[in-house]
Amino acid sequence: MGGGPVLEAWGLVRRLGQGAAAREVLRGIDLVIETGEFAALVGPSGSGKSTLLYLLGGLDRPDAGGVRIGGVDISGVDDDELATLRNRLIGFVYQFHFLLPEFSAVENVLMPLWARGGGTSREDRAWGAELLGRVGLADKVGKLPKQLSGGEQQRVAVARALVNRPRLLLADEPTGNLDSANAQAVYELFRELNRTLGQTILVVTHDQDWAARSDRVLRLLDGRIVADERQGEDRGPGSEVRGP
Ligand SMILES: Nc1ncnc2c1ncn2[C@@H]1O[C@H](COP(=O)(O)OP(=O)(O)OP(=O)(O)O)[C@@H](O)[C@H]1O
Ligand SMILES: [Mg+2]
Repeated sequence: MGGGPVLEAWGLVRRLGQGAAAREVLRGIDLVIETGEFAALVGPSGSGKSTLLYLLGGLDRPDAGGVRIGGVDISGVDDDELATLRNRLIGFVYQFHFLLPEFSAVENVLMPLWARGGGTSREDRAWGAELLGRVGLADKVGKLPKQLSGGEQQRVAVARALVNRPRLLLADEPTGNLDSANAQAVYELFRELNRTLGQTILVVTHDQDWAARSDRVLRLLDGRIVADERQGEDRGPGSEVRGP
């Protein structure tokens, strides 16, 4: 993976709501995410974090300003091309994991590959199973979501976000619905991916511990970035990789 920015955003404005209720949820965001970063996006509820993450991931388009994902300005691509670009470059972990209940863990992981006509080869299935192993679910490959705990389901969603080998992993409160032990496991997993694979990661979080252990913290307030701080990389015992 080459160096340089994975993602660049400039002058982002996003208006949401209808008529008199319409308002500027994002009011001029400039942001560069470099390859290999482990960053957190924090801020009060309603400050625009999810809205920004959607723009950065190409799931939504700005009313003003621009986004360049992997060097490609998304304003110049149509919706189909944008979906392809996103599928190729971005992994997205939603706050609610949206696993498909009738499909097994590994089938859920392979879903983004199916979306582009792949995911059925023996190699693909092996890769899906390997990812589940990497998130500590080697023995749950064939389980349905309802047979898994909340934390396990969230880890399946993380594996799914990684199946395309994305240049950028975006996650919206990946620990929001987890107890502290499962939240810690997801943090350690993300850290391991960042350390061992150089995976670039941006996470929206309300979790103070997660933010404190990120290398960079972006703070959003009322649609603007009011702080962008780099911190020493966490090397404490809490960050050690736990085996599957
Ligand atoms: N589709 C929409 N139509 C109108 N307003 C919206 C829409 N989506 C979001 N908003 C508003 O935009 C603001 C920012 O929402 P956003 O979901 O980005 O906040 P957030 O920082 O992610 O909050 P939380 O921490 O609660 O998830 C909120 O005031 C929200 O009500
Ligand atoms: Mg949100």
